[in-house]
Amino acid sequence: MRTRVGIIGAGPAGLMLALMLHRRGIGCVIVERRDRAAIEATLRAGILEQSTVDLMAELGVGARLAREGVVHHGTILRFDGRNHRIDFTALAGGRVATLYPQHEVLKDLIAGVLARDGQIMFGAQVTGLTDLTTARPVIHFTAADGQAHTLDCEVVVGADGAYGAGRSAIPPGVRHEYQRAYPFGWFGILCEAPPSSEELIYTRHDRGFALISSRTPQVQRMYFQCDPNDSVDRWSDEAIWDELQVRVDGEDGLQLQRGPIFQKSILPMRSYVCEPMRFGRLFLAGDAAHTVPPTGAKGLNLAVRDVWELDRSLGAFFGAGADEALDSYSETALRRVWRVQHFSWWMTSMLHRMEGASPFDDRRQLAELELVTSSIPAATSLAQNYVGMPLGT
Ligand code: DHB
Repeated sequence: MRTRVGIIGAGPAGLMLALMLHRRGIGCVIVERRDRAAIEATLRAGILEQSTVDLMAELGVGARLAREGVVHHGTILRFDGRNHRIDFTALAGGRVATLYPQHEVLKDLIAGVLARDGQIMFGAQVTGLTDLTTARPVIHFTAADGQAHTLDCEVVVGADGAYGAGRSAIPPGVRHEYQRAYPFGWFGILCEAPPSSEELIYTRHDRGFALISSRTPQVQRMYFQCDPNDSVDRWSDEAIWDELQVRVDGEDGLQLQRGPIFQKSILPMRSYVCEPMRFGRLFLAGDAAHTVPPTGAKGLNLAVRDVWELDRSLGAFFGAGADEALDSYSETALRRVWRVQHFSWWMTSMLHRMEGASPFDDRRQLAELELVTSSIPAATSLAQNYVGMPLGT
């Protein structure tokens, strides 16, 4: 088999890139380890930046998102038992955040790629990447039927997540890794209940962070800061509801709407960056190159930024046949990656309770929340980063 661009991974980065390359008339093949049903059922975050929404519309895969996505004109930071609203519309030049779960994005992207006769090899396990420093890099994989294949490419894109073949193909002497683990995780639930709030609530409490989010008018998504080594089986529904309620208790009497919990999981939290995002003709995008903690829901949106940039480089490379067009990708993408790393780390550290935090730390954290919710320049910075800067800036 041969193609111009071999993409490993049918996640947001790989699929979005395939649609952009199709628009340019550049052929590509996606090799994906999982089957379609598993991809479309995996739960992740639910917030899309304005530029992610705009790009989906531009690529012709935004119709359902336009119908079913819920526009959020602001978000709530809650501390000292009171809500403090950040108004995106007023502070971020009309840009907003849209609630539309990641697995719904994936359904739309997969359908879009297949409708354009794009090729996705589902259930295909990559066994090796070779010739990456030549003009003819090769992806070796075992297809769903157990047959071994090679895919000869001109460019290989590793969009295969934190544990994929892409990142590990960059030799250890070339790869620089920057990381930070957090001493807490998120206990996430899905429940059948009406919404407890019209807008998302990010709350800081002495017992730790909690997030009140939503999926549909009937299904709600909530999280609370927990021990990353805790087990979901230790928690009854009642204990979960009591813990969430304590963290939002306050003088306004906010009461969570309880209902049957049908999914529980614990997410670890870390920040990670791999530099450079390139080795020869291999380019990394999305989680293959970086991980952000979930606070602020930047993972998918950052993956989209990566491939938007990569599409421009590949367009110039295949258009002019000039290798130099590929040189700027890693540096340009990494500038944005680090800005988003900072934002995700900052939101996390402002809202979570650190084990062993001193009374000074608590007061300082509250002072920061006061600043962000009362100073227009500080609130503007949060709002602009939350809804996301325009692509290319
Ligand atoms: C959701 C997750 C997030 O990390 C976030 O910041 C906002 C919403 C969610 O799953 O709904």
